Amino acid sequence: MTAPSPGEILLSAEQIQQRVAELAVEIRRDAPDNLHLVAVLKGAFVFVADLVRCLSGPVSLDFMSVSSYESKTASSGEIRLVQDLGAPLDGRHVVIVEDIVDTGVTLVRLQQMLRARNPHTLKTACLLSKTARRQVDVTVDYVGFTIADRFVVGYGLDYAEQYRHLPHIAVLET
Ligand code: IMP
Repeated sequence: MTAPSPGEILLSAEQIQQRVAELAVEIRRDAPDNLHLVAVLKGAFVFVADLVRCLSGPVSLDFMSVSSYESKTASSGEIRLVQDLGAPLDGRHVVIVEDIVDTGVTLVRLQQMLRARNPHTLKTACLLSKTARRQVDVTVDYVGFTIADRFVVGYGLDYAEQYRHLPHIAVLET
């Protein structure tokens, strides 16, 4: 049996860069000041690095880490807080930055967790959304691309910790 590897390119690096720039404009329009991005590790590290450089004006940044899929391609439905934020959220315009929303279970829990910390506003940006896979009702304010139900890697997204470095998004083929 051959190991799964990236095949078809779903989104090129150029397509991603263009969309990230558009998202930055939308996010800034909604939060002209006191903007604070909370990136969810590890998958969002590439997305947030590009997003933050497309944002005009001041922005602060923090990271949190939750355990998710590990080396599987199916959701466990459970999340565990692995690394918490370094700063409070009170009074800030907080935007959660996620790589992909699949069932929505992770994001719902994150939103509940962060809403309890009294941000002025709480919004969510995700690069990819597999809308057809949703199991819970969750609001995503900024969506890069809606994609079909396929497991994808690259641009921060992994399969068993591999392929995060790819500049594009590819379908994992088995
Ligand atoms: P959810 O809780 O089912 O929405 O899962 C969200 C998390 O699952 C993401 O933050 C990713 O870590 C992981 N995930 C879901 N789909 C994919 C995929 O196609 N490629 C890589 N990771 C994925």
